[in-house]
Amino acid sequence: MRLGGGLAIASPFGTFRVPNISTDKNDGIGTWTTVQLGNALVGGVSPQGAHYYPAFPYTTYAGMTPRDIRDLAAYLRTLPPVSGKAPPHDISLIFTVRRFVGFWKLLFFKASGSVPPPTGDAVRDRGAYLVEALAHCGECHSTRNSLGAIKPDARYAGGPDPEGVGFVPNITPARIGHWSEADIAKMLTNGMTVEHGRVGSSMLDVVTNLATLPQSDREAIASYIKSLPPRATPQP
Ligand code: HEC
Repeated sequence: MRLGGGLAIASPFGTFRVPNISTDKNDGIGTWTTVQLGNALVGGVSPQGAHYYPAFPYTTYAGMTPRDIRDLAAYLRTLPPVSGKAPPHDISLIFTVRRFVGFWKLLFFKASGSVPPPTGDAVRDRGAYLVEALAHCGECHSTRNSLGAIKPDARYAGGPDPEGVGFVPNITPARIGHWSEADIAKMLTNGMTVEHGRVGSSMLDVVTNLATLPQSDREAIASYIKSLPPRATPQP
């Protein structure tokens, strides 16, 4: 059922169900062109021109390079089709009007993404791209406003789990400043934290995926995370 969709994502606005993105021509995205996939990833717009809900983190993918989009499209095309559509979203009535999503994007969506300008340090800049455009660490490790957009002054400073249970930790130096770059890179490989054993909940999936990256990419992510401005954890 890989890429066949259906995963439910809880949110304060209701439950989103992740669609089929396999190569199935009817139920998946098998007929999409690379440009259509690019528009979905970086613009949050479907081939029919509808706005996607930001539960699909295009606010992050907006910073992806055209080359990575092409590579991703090419890879997705190598995977087998899976038939079947995910059940519909189960969300508050107001958000079922996609036009309101367009308004949300006007308020909170930066088309250029969140990748900061290059610093000249190749490792740091690679880390910034991986964290801000691809790994979407900020989508979980931040506090959101009442409309579900990340509050800029609480980015990476932790916040209530968007799925409703628990609190995602602050990963700025205000809280994990005593972790070395090597400590962060190690945690992204085997899940072991400096103080409390292995990470759990949704971070476990993140680690399982990041553990497949080249070590140099985990080091780049660690370098960028170390460089974040310290921010106090917002009080829940
Ligand atoms: C899907 C949501 C999600 C994403 C995406 C995510 N994290 Fe996490 N992260 C968590 C949760 C939840 C925890 C707490 C896990 C626990 O304590 O068991 C956590 C824990 C951590 C910790 C340990 C903090 C501590 O004090 O123990 C670090 C460091 C961390 N994440 C870094 C990152 C980095 C770097 C990225 C991006 C590459 C990232 N996370 C992406 C949800 C996420």
